[in-house]
Formats: sequence, C-alpha cells, structure tokens
Amino acid sequence: MIRKATIDDLDELCRIEKLCFKRERYSEEFILYLLENPDNYSAVFEENKKIAGYIIASFHKDTARIISLAVAPSDRKKGIGQKLLNSAGEKAKKLKMKNITLEVSKENKSALNFYLSNKYQIIGTIKDYYGIGKDGWRMGKNL
Ligand SMILES: CC(C)(COP(=O)(O)OP(=O)(O)OC[C@H]1O[C@@H](n2cnc3c(N)ncnc32)[C@H](O)[C@@H]1OP(=O)(O)O)[C@@H](O)C(=O)NCCC(=O)NCCS
Repeated sequence: MIRKATIDDLDELCRIEKLCFKRERYSEEFILYLLENPDNYSAVFEENKKIAGYIIASFHKDTARIISLAVAPSDRKKGIGQKLLNSAGEKAKKLKMKNITLEVSKENKSALNFYLSNKYQIIGTIKDYYGIGKDGWRMGKNL
C-alpha cells in the first residue's frame, strides 16, 4: 500500500537511495529536508511493514516536479514504481497543477523508458546535471 512518508522513514529512504543510486544520490540531510517540507508530497510503498520504494514531489505555481522516485532493485518490475508515480500525479491534479516535470540521467535508460511509457516527453537537456560530463534529460507532460 501507498502511505504518506514521515521523518521516521528517513533510514529506510536512505537505504533505498543507496541501493538505487551511486554518487549522484541524495544525502540524508537533503532527504530529511524534503520530508520536513509540508508542501511536498512524500509517499512510500509498504508491504508487510517493509518499504519497497518512495517518491517525493514538489509543487510550484502550476508545475509539479518529481524530485525523487526509487524502488529497491529486488522489488522492481512489479508495478510499484507505476503506483508511486500515479499517486504523485493524482496529488498534482488535486492541487490543480497543469504540468509535471522531472530530471533523469541520460545514462539511466530504464528510467527514461519508464517515463516515456508514461507519456512524458523530453523537453530539454541539462548539461552536467549529474556531474561533469553526466547530462540529464528534463522531461515533462501536461496534466
Ligand atoms: C524507474 C523505477 C522507479 C521503476 O520502478 P518499477 O517499480 O520497476 O516500475 P514498474 O514495475 O511500475 O514498471 C517498470 C516496468 O516493469 C513492467 N512491469 C510492471 N509490472 C510487471 C510485472 N508484474 N511483470 C513484468 N513486468 C512488469 C512495466 O510494464 C514497466 O515496463 P517499462 O520499463 O517498459 O516501462 C525503478 O527502476 C528504479 O527505482 N530505478 C532506479 C532509480 C531511478 O532510476 N529512479 C528514477 C530516477 S529519475
């Protein structure tokens, strides 16, 4: 099930972040900062008291932004990422957002395909977003 993430989930979110990302991963301090912001949408997918993935999104003017989405490698390809992405999209629609955007590394082909299959389009490139020589795609779609 999907439920709101709280500060008590911080260790689990950091564990998943470490499993999913290398040097470009978010720090514990940054994840805490995101969780503490009541304006963000922070949610986890939990089954049998175990957290398998999480999503954090922010909202500014008429645009929602997926700041982080990660599913533990052993729990992938079961539809969990899809459920988390849908839940943030629903929240954005409730808040009357008009667009939703995100950034993804050009090296991250599986995430790129995942977003393309969710009707996100590439709207730009961000040079060195993930470090020198590691460009990102900016993707987005209308809600
Ligand atoms: C991208 C990510 C969040 C997707 O999470 P996921 O839980 O594996 O996603 P889903 O299972 O909902 O969907 C993934 C694929 O599995 C397929 N799938 C879903 N349920 C399935 C099932 N029961 N059996 C087989 N395939 C399935 C989906 O059709 C989808 O196919 P696609 O790759 O063609 O889009 C995950 O790979 C991840 O955490 N990656 C590392 C972190 C990351 O890159 N985050 C995004 C950074 S911007």
